Amino acid sequence: MSRHWRIEQDEDGIIWLHFNQADSSANVLTVEALDELDQQLGKIEQASPAGVVFCSDKPSGFIAGADVKAFSRITETEEARQQILQAHAIFDRIERLKCPTVAMIHGFCLGGGTELALACRYRVSRDDPGTRIGLPEVRLGIFPGFGGTVRSTRLIGHLPALNIMLSGRALSGSAARRLGLVDMSVPERQLKAAARHLLSTQPKTHQPTWLQQLPGNGLLRPLVGHFLKKQVAKQANPAHYPAPYALIRHWTKHANHRKAMYRSEAAEVAKLISSDTAQNLIRIFLLQDQLKAQGRKSDFKATHVHVIGGGIMGGDIAAWCALQGMRVTLQDRAPELLSQAMGRAHGLFKKKLKKPLLIRDALDRLMPDCEATGVTRADVVIEAIFENTEAKQQLYAQLEPRLKKGALLCTNTSSIPLEVLNSTLKNPARLVGLHFFNPVAKMQLVEIVSATNTDPNAAQQAAAFAKQIGRLPLPVKSSPGFLVNRILMPYLLEAIILLDSGTSAPAIDKAATDFGMPMGPIELADTVGLDICLAVADKLAESLPVNVPEKLRSMVSEGKLGRKSGQGFYLYSKGKAQKTAVTEQANLLPGLADRMIIRMLNEAVACLREGIVSDADLLDAGIVFGTGFAPFRGGPIHYAKSEGKEKMQPRIQTLESDRDAGWADIFEH
Ligand code: NAI
Repeated sequence: MSRHWRIEQDEDGIIWLHFNQADSSANVLTVEALDELDQQLGKIEQASPAGVVFCSDKPSGFIAGADVKAFSRITETEEARQQILQAHAIFDRIERLKCPTVAMIHGFCLGGGTELALACRYRVSRDDPGTRIGLPEVRLGIFPGFGGTVRSTRLIGHLPALNIMLSGRALSGSAARRLGLVDMSVPERQLKAAARHLLSTQPKTHQPTWLQQLPGNGLLRPLVGHFLKKQVAKQANPAHYPAPYALIRHWTKHANHRKAMYRSEAAEVAKLISSDTAQNLIRIFLLQDQLKAQGRKSDFKATHVHVIGGGIMGGDIAAWCALQGMRVTLQDRAPELLSQAMGRAHGLFKKKLKKPLLIRDALDRLMPDCEATGVTRADVVIEAIFENTEAKQQLYAQLEPRLKKGALLCTNTSSIPLEVLNSTLKNPARLVGLHFFNPVAKMQLVEIVSATNTDPNAAQQAAAFAKQIGRLPLPVKSSPGFLVNRILMPYLLEAIILLDSGTSAPAIDKAATDFGMPMGPIELADTVGLDICLAVADKLAESLPVNVPEKLRSMVSEGKLGRKSGQGFYLYSKGKAQKTAVTEQANLLPGLADRMIIRMLNEAVACLREGIVSDADLLDAGIVFGTGFAPFRGGPIHYAKSEGKEKMQPRIQTLESDRDAGWADIFEH
């Protein structure tokens, strides 16, 4: 008996091998599922069917990939290599079946799922926006290890396959069809017929063109490899993200030599998977699931959202909700104040949806509504007006009696305590903070802010709503700066203090990007807007020992607000910061990074101690997704712990002797 697989043979002698993983909403290639697959293949070999269709009974998709949770338990390279070799043997068995085979793909088909599909003779996929086919392993610090590097390059040609594997991006059914990754991409109703058609007609399998095969030539490979490395270096630092470089090396050395390539794939992926980088990236991947789980505690579902305040945040929140399929009404003080928001929404829809009909539908879902007619019908009302307590409270007084029963009332405030905002409501428990980050379409995290008197059920509903619109909800306690700004701000301010004391902006930024931050703090401050940084810093300084540098204040009063005004700490030309080369001694940089990063770690520990978030994992997840904190380091708390007291203490002491701030918090926790 198999727990996860079911064989069904039809009147034409075709075996439909259904994958339906027990106790799971998605199919994942666990060791147990692979073992059982091996047994099923034995039965199929005996049955000599007319053909085999590999299909999934899960509505969510075909196969979401290998078992990432199990990856996080692997510590021994040899153990990993053995597991990979076992998967190789099973997929090889699929490839060697005497009858024709088809992978029938719908929804998610990622990583190991795509590799299984590649072992079949044909592939057919559902043609809809929900179908995503890809090999995203580099995002976990590894590369495809179940034969994917061998079979993808052979099927669709070297550069297209390497492009998919190096970028980790997933393709729609029709994009996969254009590349030859799938043979047919059809609507749902024709999926089975297409699979049968391939089995009965057995057309010639897809072949890459001569030109697509050319880069695999032994003489050209070193050149192509060099070019690929240069391309990848624009995106990923090899010291931080070794996987794409290992993939290029593996391909350069072994492409077109099947056996050697399988052997090298197992050895290289096994080495990568047990490295700190991959383990930390896997940790972040799993933490992302923990954030999503925060949105599963309530089955609240919204269809209509009403947003008040069509400025930078409200306008973009409304557009994002419409993009996600909601009906949205957007209110401001006057219709002309919404023109910019509507223009930006159009731009977003064009970029994300591409097809004119889909763009038109999204625009139809987003309705300007300065009469506030949407308030009585909305499931969620989001206030995003000026950051002013009285204005917000006055607005709530008008809103509260008009809200639909059970509707959620949310505020996007970034700094006003929730218990102050809700104090004038008849039912203070219903107001929840829904703190989005700028730019809304890019920043995945949303802080779900609760005051001590907030209804926990309302907070869970808000988290479910955030998840519904594809964002990651992080429950936090209402306190100055919540979690993300509270931890980010001391880091930005420390950078400005360094700048003021004579270190150059490019050197400061380089120290941070060398540590692994996606952007240096000086450029980040310019990007956020120095006026906004100053407002948040001043607000934090009211209740926390935050030292707001005079330099920041003077920049703002001179109208140098950062990227948006063309000048901040950098000068901007066509939106790009004009940086000079870093001339400071390279050995200065690690100390510089410590000064800024340890500030963050310090504040992170303080937040944990004060219970701003419920545990260290959620804190790490929040800071990685809310600030971009070097993902390959696993989050601030994880980084501090993995560096260890012995390594950190002397660095903290150096900083303490430098300045009198309270650095020593980290290991007291
Ligand atoms: P903004 O100044 O760009 O937009 C505010 C909008 O609200 C304006 O269009 C204004 O006309 C409208 N408004 C003011 N009073 C109104 C009323 N009574 N009825 C209807 N509309 C009204 O402000 P922004 O930056 O979008 O901020 C909005 C909220 O989001 C604030 O609470 C802010 O703290 C918060 N926030 C801002 C972030 C940012 O980066 N700008 C990030 C996260 C939160």
